[in-house]
Amino acid sequence: MLRCLLSELNDDLQPLAAAAVKATEQSYAPYSGFHVGAAALLENGMIVTGSNQENAAYPSGLCAERVTLFHAGHQYPDIPVMALAIAAATKGEQVESISPCGACRQVLLETEQRYGKPVKVLLCGRKDVIIAESAESLLPLCFGTNDLKNHR
Ligand code: THU
Repeated sequence: MLRCLLSELNDDLQPLAAAAVKATEQSYAPYSGFHVGAAALLENGMIVTGSNQENAAYPSGLCAERVTLFHAGHQYPDIPVMALAIAAATKGEQVESISPCGACRQVLLETEQRYGKPVKVLLCGRKDVIIAESAESLLPLCFGTNDLKNHR
């Protein structure tokens, strides 16, 4: 795990962090007021974004990270995801860095194993960013694709 200033991110990752912040504006969060944005960097340089989408039946909503990863998986199934940036805002103001929930970590892990490449995870605060080098590093003793191999 690494922490750096936003301004220290490289040329690929700086626009990715900015896209995650921008995506908070498209969040549909009338119940929590907690607006989360995520942005996935694909291997070909494209950026796919998403935001949390809530529902009056609360569990039917979905986190920004999964909206984004499922969108990328559907729209660009053959292009690996290299990094995912996450940001959150309340009352129109970006908050300090937030960390993905357990279910989103599991989906990040699947993405990583699907393409066989680590997915960097960027937790974007107002000034600094925490970077995890892979989804697996966020999910010790994880259950993944290999666990099912002998049962298919
Ligand atoms: N949420 C996300 O979208 N991502 C996270 O990493 C944490 C939580 C959403 C779910 C819900 O819409 C709102 O934030 C409050 O939990």
